[in-house]
Amino acid sequence: MHGSGKVDGVTDEGVELADGVVRLRPLRADDADAWLAGEDDEIRRWFQFPRPSTRADVDGAIEAWARSWREDGPVRCFGAWTVGSDTLVGGVELRRHRDAAYVSYQVFAPHRRRGYATRAVRMAVIHAELVLPVERIVIITDAKNAASQGVALASGFRLDGPAEGHEHSEVGEMLRFVWP
Ligand SMILES: CC(C)(COP(=O)(O)OP(=O)(O)OC[C@H]1O[C@@H](n2cnc3c(N)ncnc32)[C@H](O)[C@@H]1OP(=O)(O)O)[C@@H](O)C(=O)NCCC(=O)NCCS
Repeated sequence: MHGSGKVDGVTDEGVELADGVVRLRPLRADDADAWLAGEDDEIRRWFQFPRPSTRADVDGAIEAWARSWREDGPVRCFGAWTVGSDTLVGGVELRRHRDAAYVSYQVFAPHRRRGYATRAVRMAVIHAELVLPVERIVIITDAKNAASQGVALASGFRLDGPAEGHEHSEVGEMLRFVWP
């Protein structure tokens, strides 16, 4: 505990996690420009966004994520920054549903294939195991999304089979990966 009475890594806005290369913390209103700038066709394709996000969409999303942190809601969304250069490179989200925590992630195009998503997922899994009242940790990926499946496997998840309809909002064939 610090003199302030806060547990290490826990701020008024949520939880901070780091592994020496990537730092995770909740997104704030002043992260909106960088978050919006990171969105590309790959992100839109796999999250099935109906159109490119606007600044208002991102402001609203960051506000909703912040509220969920404050009120211990079902979603814990982290932005991911590089430790050295403090650059926002993407994010990872934990969403509680039934008895499980569902993990989803994105890394902005200039920063892909450097292991950032894998690091972010591993930290999110540790966080979920330590503090979330869930029995399972799950990743749902589109059956055609090789990059997302690569991250699931690199993070230590294993393929469990086809996802069920209640586990995702995307359309198409989806797969479930489970931890460990
Ligand atoms: C999926 C995504 C998050 C991967 O981020 P990343 O930081 O590049 O991933 P990592 O560097 O941790 O990759 C881990 C492994 O996954 C696999 N992988 C990653 N990107 C891949 C690609 N484009 N094609 C095939 N395999 C890929 C590789 O095995 C990789 O290990 P390697 O680089 O040592 O070969 C990123 O491509 C992205 O944001 N895509 C759009 C959004 C999305 O699909 N999110 C997933 C929804 S759950």
